[in-house]
Amino acid sequence: MPFDSTGKVSFDEVYTAPDPRPFFTALREVDYHLPQLAKPYFAKLIEERANPTVLDVGCSYGVNAALYRCDATMDDLYAHYTGEEAADLDRAGLLARDRALAKSHDVRFIGLDVAAPALAYAREAGFLDEAVRADLENDDPTPEQSAVLAQADLVVSTGCIGYVSERTIARLADLPGGRRPSMAHFVLRMFSYTPIADSLATLGYETVGVEGLFKQRRFASAQEQEQLLDAVRANGFEPSEQELDGWLCAQLHLSRPTDRRGHQ
Ligand SMILES: C[S@@+](CC[C@H](N)C(=O)[O-])C[C@H]1O[C@@H](n2cnc3c(N)ncnc32)[C@H](O)[C@@H]1O
Repeated sequence: MPFDSTGKVSFDEVYTAPDPRPFFTALREVDYHLPQLAKPYFAKLIEERANPTVLDVGCSYGVNAALYRCDATMDDLYAHYTGEEAADLDRAGLLARDRALAKSHDVRFIGLDVAAPALAYAREAGFLDEAVRADLENDDPTPEQSAVLAQADLVVSTGCIGYVSERTIARLADLPGGRRPSMAHFVLRMFSYTPIADSLATLGYETVGVEGLFKQRRFASAQEQEQLLDAVRANGFEPSEQELDGWLCAQLHLSRPTDRRGHQ
């Protein structure tokens, strides 16, 4: 399997397929279940707000929205997309099955991703209410994109920091007409949240880290484990028992707006 520039195995090709079957097939192999661990934290933040709009950064096929909207677990989604029934369906058949699953909710989900096919699928399946295809690492949002993104009350992500940095996250906190959304990001220990926390601090946000490690997925090989444990050490951490035991781990960072702005 090829590695990306950070030393992780690259799953890039499954992020751009016309439907989620290759994504769930590949990620099942490495026991990817971070969205399942993130779900109760996101649910708490959602339920603390009245009819919130949630922006999922790097949402792919709308995984976090699907877990919430369909009352599903990651195991349910793995069975749903990699089982025999799914193998016999075409894209339209898969979508028809998914539309029947997604329940209407008082919560609106917006997805942001660079992968147009994944976003299109998530919209058509009814997981996302709106989708924005943009690369805010490199570009400002268009006025139309900005107007959609500015509706967010809450910004969340799983498995996306590293692909996106403070360039994307600070833009989302500082959109014209924006609602100064609270944020919850699950970040692999090989990546630092400090540049994001620092940029958000200049916009009047404060960040706290949640105690504990979250098992994101298993390492795909001994070589990947070795490379990523080096990256964890380079980021200032000693590998934990879980990491030595074969699990790639993330930490949860919560950033919320305060009354102060620009005083850092
Ligand atoms: C590891 S997947 C995570 C998908 C999903 N959040 C989950 O946890 O199942 C990373 C996602 O980040 C997206 N991505 C990569 N670069 C991005 C960028 N510059 N802006 C937004 N999304 C990006 C990829 O297309 C992919 O869908």
